[in-house]
Order: sequence, then C-alpha cells, then structure tokens
Amino acid sequence: MDHVVWDDSMSVGVGILDTDHKRLLEMFNGLLKTGVSTKSKDDLIPLIEGLRDYTNVHFRREEAFMERHGFPDLETHKAAHRYFVDEVEKLAGELNGDHTMMLRIDLILLLKEWLIEHIQTTDKQYQPYLASEDAASAG
Ligand SMILES: [Fe+2]
Repeated sequence: MDHVVWDDSMSVGVGILDTDHKRLLEMFNGLLKTGVSTKSKDDLIPLIEGLRDYTNVHFRREEAFMERHGFPDLETHKAAHRYFVDEVEKLAGELNGDHTMMLRIDLILLLKEWLIEHIQTTDKQYQPYLASEDAASAG
C-alpha cells in the first residue's frame, strides 16, 4: 500500500485544519511504514497512541470551527468522528493481545479507508461554511 501525500486538492480552506490533516497523513505514513516492517508491537504502540491523541485534538478543533460557523451537519460529522475514535481505541486496546499482524492490517485499512476518505470528502462539506475563517485569521 502506498503512502499518501497531501496535495492542494485536499485543502479545506482553513490553514490550521490543513496543517492538522498534513500531520495526520504523516502519522499514517509512519504507521504504514513501521506497521509493515516492525516485528515488535512496542514500536507500534507509541505511533498508534500518538495518532489517537492527535486525532482527538484535531477533531475537537474542527468541531469548534464547524460550530462557530453554524455548519448544519455538525451532529452527523461529530458522529463520524466518534466512530473513528472508537475504532482506533478498540484496535489500540487489542494490541496487547495476540493477532497483532491482523490488527496492523485492520488499523492500516481503517486509516486508509476512513481517515483519508474523510479528509478528502466529508471534511470538504464544511469548506463553504468556513470560507470566511482563513481570511479572518490571516488578517
Ligand atoms: Fe472531520
């Protein structure tokens, strides 16, 4: 599986949220690389925990932006975030057991299919509502 590179087509039009997304993709790429190569789950756990923590910070930031700008689908979007947090939490919790190879694959697929898809499509939906934000924060 190839790593994913952020490009302008993924921009949501708000600098700080784009920066978050770039960071999350970097974390995904790091996890992909280590997840495939390492034999030790000790190498994997800090990466997963780092991703989980950063995702939480980012989702809270994104939700605050959407709330401030009256994004109408806020609750649906929040539910999508919660689903992802729960899934990562579940997989991270299972890392201490056996079957870590399967977990790695599950985790990488979750990240690839959910997180990247989410950034590329779902996050785009709030872009028009937040359009005034970057001009305001840049000025
Ligand atoms: Fe989002």
